Amino acid sequence: MRCDVLTLLPAPVEAYLSTGVLGRAAVRGTLDLRVHDLRRWAINRYGQVDDVPYGGGPGMVVLASVVVPAVRELVNAAPSGCRVVLPDPRGRRFTDTVAQELAHSERLVVVCGRYEGLDERAHELLQADEISLGDFVLSGGELAALAIVDAVARHVPGVVGDPGSVASDSFTSYLLDHPVYTRPPTFEGRSVPPVLASGHHERIRRWRLEQAVRLTLSRRPDLLNANWSRLPDEVRQLTVETAAREKIDWQPPEGA
Ligand SMILES: C[S@@+](CC[C@H](N)C(=O)[O-])C[C@H]1O[C@@H](n2cnc3c(N)ncnc32)[C@H](O)[C@@H]1O
Repeated sequence: MRCDVLTLLPAPVEAYLSTGVLGRAAVRGTLDLRVHDLRRWAINRYGQVDDVPYGGGPGMVVLASVVVPAVRELVNAAPSGCRVVLPDPRGRRFTDTVAQELAHSERLVVVCGRYEGLDERAHELLQADEISLGDFVLSGGELAALAIVDAVARHVPGVVGDPGSVASDSFTSYLLDHPVYTRPPTFEGRSVPPVLASGHHERIRRWRLEQAVRLTLSRRPDLLNANWSRLPDEVRQLTVETAAREKIDWQPPEGA
């Protein structure tokens, strides 16, 4: 997958994308990550990319005449097209399902807003996939862009070394992930559950699944309800048993 990020703050974006899982995938060639300084498309030699809002009010607005040509240049250079993503509080909510969907795109262009946001005409002309990280406001689109690129890239085959790690991650299986432990066997009087040191693969698998179900039931029952028909029989049965045993006030969704 190739991903181009357009930003007014290229340095921190480049620093993050060249580090860890993403950085290693880029070195291997599994990902092609490029960061572009939006000032390259500035409207004058002073590097102007923003202006005051019509009608008055605080802050500055990013010029449509900067963002639109920048995005078009990248899109027009992509022979098989690409998906334009615009992090924005007004967008659809970002979830793992959205990340999996975007991971099917061969090319993404992600545009980071700043200040009061982009001139509305940039929204109208680009018709981008507007995505919100949640009901809060960041100072710029960079953190949102990085969160989106990172979560999407984890679903691109070959990016995460062990695909089993992604498959068991929270949300991918519609459950929160099970707890994990490492050495030492006892820390401040708390021991690792003995089953994990038993070497018995089936018992370990079952214990992890039980813990994932228990955590999801107590913290995010909405995930179980929303995905009930997609859950394997084993998970459904375990959910019903766990709710009854632990006296958790939860019922399978109506009609299930
Ligand atoms: C200070 S914000 C602008 C907020 C805008 N005035 C509003 O209230 O909706 C600047 C930029 O940060 C990004 N941003 C802020 N919050 C975000 C969120 N929750 N999800 C995704 N992007 C966000 C967007 O790119 C936005 O254009």
